[in-house]
Amino acid sequence: MASLSNKIVVISGASAGVGRATAIEFARQGASVALLARGAKGLEGARAEVEAVGGKAWVRTLDVADAQQVDAAADAIEAELGPIDVWVNNAMVTVLSPVSQMSAEEYRRVTEVTYLGTVHGTCAALRHMRPRNRGAILQIGSALAYRAIPLQSAYCAAKFACRGFTDALRVELQHENSAIHLTSVHLSAFNTPQFDWARARLECEPQPLPPIFQPEVAARAIVWAAGQRRREVCVGFPAVKTIWGNKLLPAFADRLLQKRGYAGQQDDRPLVPNRPDNLFQPVDRDMSSHGRFDSEARDYSGQLWLTMHRKTLTGVIAGAVLLPLALLLLKKR
Ligand SMILES: NC(=O)c1ccc[n+]([C@@H]2O[C@H](COP(=O)([O-])OP(=O)(O)OC[C@H]3O[C@@H](n4cnc5c(N)ncnc54)[C@H](OP(=O)(O)O)[C@@H]3O)[C@@H](O)[C@H]2O)c1
Repeated sequence: MASLSNKIVVISGASAGVGRATAIEFARQGASVALLARGAKGLEGARAEVEAVGGKAWVRTLDVADAQQVDAAADAIEAELGPIDVWVNNAMVTVLSPVSQMSAEEYRRVTEVTYLGTVHGTCAALRHMRPRNRGAILQIGSALAYRAIPLQSAYCAAKFACRGFTDALRVELQHENSAIHLTSVHLSAFNTPQFDWARARLECEPQPLPPIFQPEVAARAIVWAAGQRRREVCVGFPAVKTIWGNKLLPAFADRLLQKRGYAGQQDDRPLVPNRPDNLFQPVDRDMSSHGRFDSEARDYSGQLWLTMHRKTLTGVIAGAVLLPLALLLLKKR
């Protein structure tokens, strides 16, 4: 995608966290953004931030678990903003709890929002993109789409399912010679409100497994990925390490997580009893993009820089190797 100016971008889960930071970054680069989520206060906060950077925001409260609501939003965006160029499936919920204490309703809800929400968004986007044979769909994934961790069984399973759905659809699009671009952006750990409003059954308050990055790092990666043709993009070295480490040494990863996966997902403050959570209803507050980890979160990823400059770096390295070789051959002649 050469320029984002006048492009129409839809983002689910845009009222907070990574989705909200991504909406602001798209708007900063000239796109008009449609913001989807359940919470009206968070969406209005996001709209104000998009407009503050000079962007145009279109807002709809909906639940991504409901396919009809997602389809109706897609139709309204096409009618009111114009043809959808980019659709970002980002909305999620999780429950931090051992499997033994999870209920069937919790498993169903996490699956309906985190997995089926992605399916509904993708199908709504394709319905409009297919006749035009253009557009980009981005699935916001996680290292946990490859490596499941303790205390997040429902979320990890839903992220695995998103990857399965996306891989099947990618091949179908290739089989149709479609020009629609489908990519997954797999994140490391990010400083978002997720850890303050996710349902939790732990001793202490949940936290992302460190190191933690600021949501703007993910936002820059997602906006960049919308203009590339990459199959998958990892954001942050921990995601690369987790995915490849698990492919190579899965049993070692099991043992590591048994040791570090419990304490690593909790800070040292006792869990606030009956804290409001966002599983079935939105939390009625504007939570912004950032969570409570600003003091320790990194706003830069060297791994992401290398990913974004892969072609240039390959050229420079090839030049550095081939040029002396060519000079040597010339000298010998
Ligand atoms: N933060 C991390 O460490 C991390 C790591 C790896 C991957 N990720 C991925 O990054 C993405 C964003 O995560 P995040 O940390 O930014 O989460 P977050 O802070 O909890 O934000 C989640 C967003 O989803 C929306 N949402 C939740 N349920 C919804 C529903 N049923 N319908 C519509 N919108 C809904 C929320 O708004 P409402 O409540 O107002 O609906 C909110 O805007 C997710 O796909 C997640 O898997 C995050």
